[in-house]
Amino acid sequence: MTWDTLPARALDKRELRDVVARLAEAPEVWRPHVAFSDEQRHYVSLYRDEYVDVWLLCWTRRNDTGWHDHDISSGAVQVVQGALAEHNPRIGGDHLVRIVRDGLSFCFGPEHIHRLTGATNDAVSIHAYSPPLWRLGQYDISGDGLMRRMSVSYADELRPVTPSTAA
Ligand SMILES: [Fe+2]
Repeated sequence: MTWDTLPARALDKRELRDVVARLAEAPEVWRPHVAFSDEQRHYVSLYRDEYVDVWLLCWTRRNDTGWHDHDISSGAVQVVQGALAEHNPRIGGDHLVRIVRDGLSFCFGPEHIHRLTGATNDAVSIHAYSPPLWRLGQYDISGDGLMRRMSVSYADELRPVTPSTAA
């Protein structure tokens, strides 16, 4: 995996999935950065240019992004150790939850809203976004179901807006 093989344009979600799959097979790029913290998700920028950004994220069961979207970016996630839970919000019903284990990946477009939590205490995932993340939408769902979106910088760590909504 060399970064200069990436095309000089925005990548679609399937191309991003190929990028994270190739990185999964290049542990020398990301393995040295793996570390875990219950208090704060551990994440490291592996690469960023004008078309794509790539991150390593490490998760314990206590790490939770909260509900968010990726503004205008598409994305792909490859789990390379342990397992993540991906949650998708359903208005008026139970939210969807699926477990994504080591070796599996998923991708999404800008319309996607989700929340990621660690499903094991040693989960490691590689994420690629195009265009590169700049702002994201962070959601709060109140107890009576009212949903609000807040625009946040990609540099702000995503976490649940209100701790009481984290269950
Ligand atoms: Fe996300």
